[in-house]
Amino acid sequence: MKNFGLIYLTEDASHDAVIDLINEEAFGPGRHTRAAARIREQGPHDRSLSFICADNGETIASVRMTPVMAGAVKGHLLGPLAVRPSHKNRGIGRELVRIAIEAARRKGSEGVILIGDPPYYMPLGFEKVAYKALDFPGPVDPNRVLVVPLADDVHDRLKGAIAWRDCKAVEVDVPALDDIAPNKAYASA
Ligand SMILES: CC(C)(COP(=O)(O)OP(=O)(O)OC[C@H]1O[C@@H](n2cnc3c(N)ncnc32)[C@H](O)[C@@H]1OP(=O)(O)O)[C@@H](O)C(=O)NCCC(=O)NCCS
Repeated sequence: MKNFGLIYLTEDASHDAVIDLINEEAFGPGRHTRAAARIREQGPHDRSLSFICADNGETIASVRMTPVMAGAVKGHLLGPLAVRPSHKNRGIGRELVRIAIEAARRKGSEGVILIGDPPYYMPLGFEKVAYKALDFPGPVDPNRVLVVPLADDVHDRLKGAIAWRDCKAVEVDVPALDDIAPNKAYASA
């Protein structure tokens, strides 16, 4: 299937309702009880690092990033990541992850953390966090806790609690998405 008509945009409030629907479809009603969701409930995600993909104007995928303190690392928690079933296996999930990591790196994040499937995320630059090094506000499978280190000594500093972080005080210029992911339609390989 061709990817003509796909564009990647920074999330704004107008996307909230459709993102809720996409996440409900992907994760079901139990999604609010997951450990990562509990962190996200502690404070807002960072819209400037959160992105959607639209196909001919219809939002069909989303990734969100939430500022966290993870041990001594000022990083971001990636997720939820969800692509509508109609658009799976076209590289959209991978592209959203790539854009979010690059935007976080440019904003000075020290690492992008998530709980997810290693076979999907490790080819995208994620590495396993040391076994049980991070304490989440709920049960997690320690083998699924992953990080893209974006600063020095990240693995050494990823020890202790992970919680939402208020980053307003250190807000810096938001990177231009055009530079990271030019909003061009493109054909799949
Ligand atoms: C997981 C998800 C985001 C992937 O998005 P996508 O746009 O379909 O993925 P991409 O096109 O970038 O990548 C597709 C490849 O990843 C593989 N893949 C998808 N989910 C995977 C998983 N959980 N584990 C390992 N590989 C996976 C596919 O088999 C495919 O492999 P191929 O390229 O060898 O054919 C999407 O399937 C989804 O929304 N799932 C439901 C929600 C979810 O599980 N989110 C992730 C939470 S950790």
